Amino acid sequence: MHKRKPDRRDPLVCLCNEVPRSRIDAAIDCGACTLAQIFDATWAGCGPCGGSCQPEIGRILAERVNATTAVKGAR
Ligand code: FES
Repeated sequence: MHKRKPDRRDPLVCLCNEVPRSRIDAAIDCGACTLAQIFDATWAGCGPCGGSCQPEIGRILAERVNATTAVKGAR
């Protein structure tokens, strides 16, 4: 199995499926707004560990949704 090189600028969020933060962000940018949609788009959160990364994915999603809401509210 190919192992991704560590990248401090783009850390892995899901170690099981080697999904970096940039892919989670891209899924959200493309309209994913639930954990299930992020899982479908990236496979993050559905690995053999049972989804230990799901809380982190939820935190990222909440952070991004709140940031978007804040920007829209400022207009
Ligand atoms: S680390 Fe994401 S499913 Fe295991």
